[in-house]
Amino acid sequence: MTTLTTQVAIIGGGPSGLLLSQLLNKSGVETVILERSTRDHVLSRIRAGILEWGTVELLRAAGVDARMDREGIPHDGCYLTDDELMVHIDFKELTGKQVMVYGQTEVTADLYNAQDAMGTTVLHGVSDVSIHDLDQSKSRVEFTHEGERKVLECLYVAGCDGFHGVSRKTIPEETRREFERVYPFGWLGILSETPPVNDELIYSNSKHGFALASMRNENLVRYYVQVPLSDKVEDWSDQRFWDEFSRRIPSEAANRLITGPSIEKSIAPLRSFVSEPLRWGNLFLVGDSAHIVPPTGAKGLNLAASDVFYLHSALTEAVTGKGTGGIDDYSSKALARIWKAMRFSWQMTTMLHRFDGEDAFAEQMRKATLDHLAHSETARRDLAENYIGLPF
Ligand code: APR
Ligand code: PHB
Repeated sequence: MTTLTTQVAIIGGGPSGLLLSQLLNKSGVETVILERSTRDHVLSRIRAGILEWGTVELLRAAGVDARMDREGIPHDGCYLTDDELMVHIDFKELTGKQVMVYGQTEVTADLYNAQDAMGTTVLHGVSDVSIHDLDQSKSRVEFTHEGERKVLECLYVAGCDGFHGVSRKTIPEETRREFERVYPFGWLGILSETPPVNDELIYSNSKHGFALASMRNENLVRYYVQVPLSDKVEDWSDQRFWDEFSRRIPSEAANRLITGPSIEKSIAPLRSFVSEPLRWGNLFLVGDSAHIVPPTGAKGLNLAASDVFYLHSALTEAVTGKGTGGIDDYSSKALARIWKAMRFSWQMTTMLHRFDGEDAFAEQMRKATLDHLAHSETARRDLAENYIGLPF
């Protein structure tokens, strides 16, 4: 078998794998990325677009901030609404911090360009990846690439291969503890080249169900409505989407809504998932391979970045012989922040969605929660602190 060698083998060329590799390379640590799909396929995925300020700072440290600063839109706040109330959460006033509206697809593209500039080896189209010798001083990742079976020898393996990847499943089932909450609805999302209905995001808990008005730039919007899991994209014409969306957002916003053809339309299920531990021998799980959040709290990419923040310094320390304290603490440190973001995402989801078969009491609880936010600066500050991102 063709043998390659490196210091850190990274399985998965999504945002987690690329950001980890970029930061490690900047610290002088060698990496090789093994990605199952083509680069175009990875970049064709439409994902969320809200960056916590900690993620913005990490992208700066990785040297991938130029286009983000040119094209990204810093936001001072967002709105939470129901049929009566429109509550403004002013992050800037409450915490002194903002969030950055900049698509995950753009972040991923910037990271690929930065890795190319670094000359890092990124192999696309790999298959049959298997991980070995994680309890030895050297580990091996075997894979098929360009029709040939190859092996990548390394000191450590980073599992950045998402929920459906091989890394988490390499940790023996009896060692893993998995926690899951599946929500009985999905999000139908569209991209449309129209101007945003509002200058900040609107999260709407209407009597017809949840809706979210988000954006990518001043002429590209990302809007979502809550739909039953049984719905198919084909059930939703653009006109049906616009009719439903406009009756779920506050009427003063709906009156200025500009509609247009969708250029992308998809349905995503909602789930909360955590797999512990994040480390097994020389293997470290990062991002979606270890945890999934419902998108309501805008934490998906930001939690992946948080894992990378802890792991890149820990691996740099270990590879450069400065000790293994960081890698020994990685799982517990990263999980502490993961569970808080899990709680916030679950809270935002239960607070803003209608659950089939729920009783009138549940509806009153959502109303009272929003009413409390409207009248309590402390409650708004708590939400703002979680939304802009808890400290690393
Ligand atoms: N071998 C090689 N690559 C693999 C394998 C495998 N066996 N399995 C999956 N991959 C690749 C996928 O093709 C994908 O490009 O791993 C990558 C994982 O990327 P993501 O799923 O985007 O996960 P991550 O990088 O952790 O990013 C998390 O993505 O889903 C959003 O909301 C989530 O924003 C969060 C972010
Ligand atoms: C998005 O812009 O796609 C987006 C924004 C905020 C969320 C989820 C998705 O909570």
